Amino acid sequence: MNQQDSRNWIGKPLDRVDGPAKVTGQATYAADYRGARAASIGFIVEAGIGKGRISSIDTTAAEASDGVLLVLSHKNAPEQAPFGSHKDAGRFGQSHAALENDRVKYHGAPVAFVVAETLEQARHAAHLIEVKYDIEAGVFDAEAHEEDAVRPDSLDGADEADKETGNFEKTFDKAPVTVEAEYHTPAQHASAMEPHATVAEWSEGKLTVHMAIQILSDARKGLAHTLKMEPGDVRIVSPFIGGGFGSKLGIHNEAVLAALAARELDRPVRVAQTRRNLFSNGPHRTEHRQRLKLGADTDGRLLAISHDSLAAMARGYPFAEAAGGLTQSSYAALAIRMRHRIVEADIPKVDSMRAPGEAIGTLTFESAIDELAERCGVDPVQFRLLNEPETEPGSGKPFSTRPLARCLSEGAASFGWRSGPVRPGGKRDGRWLVGHGVAAAIRSNNIEPAGAEASLSRDGRLTLKLDMTDIGTGTYTILGQIAAEALGMQAGMIEVRLGDSDFAETCGSGGSFGAGSTGTAVHEACQNIRADILSRAARIDAGWSGVNSGELRLDGDRVSVGDRSLPLGDILDAVGGETFHCKAHIKAGDAHETMAQYSYGALFAEVGVDTDTAEIRLRRLLGVFDAGRILNRKTAHSQLMGGMIFGIGAALLEESLMDKRYGAFMNRDLAEYHIAVNRDVPRLEVHMLDGFDRHSNPLGSKGIGELGICGAGPAIANAVYDATGHRARKFPVHIEDVLPAVSRLVG
Ligand code: MOS
Repeated sequence: MNQQDSRNWIGKPLDRVDGPAKVTGQATYAADYRGARAASIGFIVEAGIGKGRISSIDTTAAEASDGVLLVLSHKNAPEQAPFGSHKDAGRFGQSHAALENDRVKYHGAPVAFVVAETLEQARHAAHLIEVKYDIEAGVFDAEAHEEDAVRPDSLDGADEADKETGNFEKTFDKAPVTVEAEYHTPAQHASAMEPHATVAEWSEGKLTVHMAIQILSDARKGLAHTLKMEPGDVRIVSPFIGGGFGSKLGIHNEAVLAALAARELDRPVRVAQTRRNLFSNGPHRTEHRQRLKLGADTDGRLLAISHDSLAAMARGYPFAEAAGGLTQSSYAALAIRMRHRIVEADIPKVDSMRAPGEAIGTLTFESAIDELAERCGVDPVQFRLLNEPETEPGSGKPFSTRPLARCLSEGAASFGWRSGPVRPGGKRDGRWLVGHGVAAAIRSNNIEPAGAEASLSRDGRLTLKLDMTDIGTGTYTILGQIAAEALGMQAGMIEVRLGDSDFAETCGSGGSFGAGSTGTAVHEACQNIRADILSRAARIDAGWSGVNSGELRLDGDRVSVGDRSLPLGDILDAVGGETFHCKAHIKAGDAHETMAQYSYGALFAEVGVDTDTAEIRLRRLLGVFDAGRILNRKTAHSQLMGGMIFGIGAALLEESLMDKRYGAFMNRDLAEYHIAVNRDVPRLEVHMLDGFDRHSNPLGSKGIGELGICGAGPAIANAVYDATGHRARKFPVHIEDVLPAVSRLVG
């Protein structure tokens, strides 16, 4: 690689630096951790009722069972801070007390925890525990209890639960073309490949946990609060994570139970939630009922938009998803209204999952837009272009960038979009009805406070030590690229160490803010190292004072500016010290307040629907995205592709079905909870525009992780309509929903 190349690392499609470790099994995930002392194994015993109290629990047979070391229940669980105290600590820093009392808060809540020498022994003993309950009537369904709905105090993804710009009712009443539709989106579970798992180990009153977690600093606070400890006495280690998708933002019962039991036993305890456990003791996205009302004039100009959402919130755990949040940012209209309502329910924890807000918001909104375009007799791509706003419609703020129109136009060209109004059912390919669909994607761009620490050794090796996580996204790789570019050095000279709460506190991974926020902190720390080198070098070589630090380049163990160079070791020898060591801390700039910042995409889908069985097969899916500057074209491509695959799931496959009589999820494994597998995923085409958003951060990048999820689902649903004439009102779209429309078409 020549000198010129070595200065431009950002954007290069470098392979993942952690790839070889992962494919050879060298990467240790939480449950893989093996310490000096052999761990005992924990197993969670789940409540068999949805709401009530434990009237009696008999653990004697379990305690006497082979290999059993400890059985915890509410009767002997060590004291913890009450669940949900420390509200000022934020959602993930609160106490997450487990086995707190005799109350059963949701179906599958832990009622006991068995620790044994082996998993088999623990699991066997768990079945010997007898629990009796006083069952109470619970609330398991938001729609059935709509009369109790309230406005949530806070929303994830929007500033306000209710907002109206202009006068919706008046504008809507006058609109000549309207759509009014009610949609249901399902409960979903993140279903990461790696389950939530923890190995807890105590030493001299301090706790170390090896845990699958997205944000270490929050987890540390959460565990410390729960266990009434100082956060500094808790260390979290999480170097590799097998997918998070929001479900590992906060700590879960297995972590708390492992920590409690390990302290009791004075021995490490390992717990990996089973796949079944995850459907009650992992978080989920809850069902939403969304009502959309759209009005346009006959030329296809939007006049009025209203987006109402109703969903459940897990009692005592404030989280509500902003399903209507993006509606105020999407298209120009005279009046825009959103309204969110929640019903407190006795269900497992509802929390962030894969583009909270936008994922389910675009699913319904972009379906309704398609329907409105059809009623106006306007091509759906053209309809969206016609309604491009100048400024953010709901706030009046300028957009930092707004390349949605380019995504749509380039996508239409690449896909081979036939323009014209949608006329369903016209295209056949043998036994298949073929349809095309389009949808736009919008996802908010955020920067969270993040720190970084970098040290440069005399032999020219740079080490970054951060509590940042790589949840499968490519963080290890891109942070190295950012540092290499910042210092003009070879990426191979950089070691990135992540996932240890002893390292510099970053923002962790979540909300698509990880790369931009921690990346900026790394960039700053490297700039500081440049300045440090120069200021020290200037002290021994007068010729360097006044040199612009931007001209400085690292070439192996030498630092050079123009044609002069000096060994790093000489500088350190002269001024003292073993390394150049610098920190940085960043936070969002004002432009995150004053401007509307989003990443964008346009998705195009082709489906085939079988004329006899109504089986829906996705045939092609193409996305054109703009997420500012792309940090690594290969890992970004994978992120977007992964998101699009979630979109396939949202449109056609994924749903957690609850038995509403008992509040119990029923399809609690990956045989019955359907995630798109290879057979469901056709050729995916991902295009990225060469964007740069100077308002987002100094790197010019924007969040990418959740962007691909948005828009893919509705593009597929719109394609199903184009093929069959069936308008999806309920997701995922099932064969039986489409069958009547197919029968009408083919007789
Ligand atoms: Mo995300 S759903 O904030 O990990």
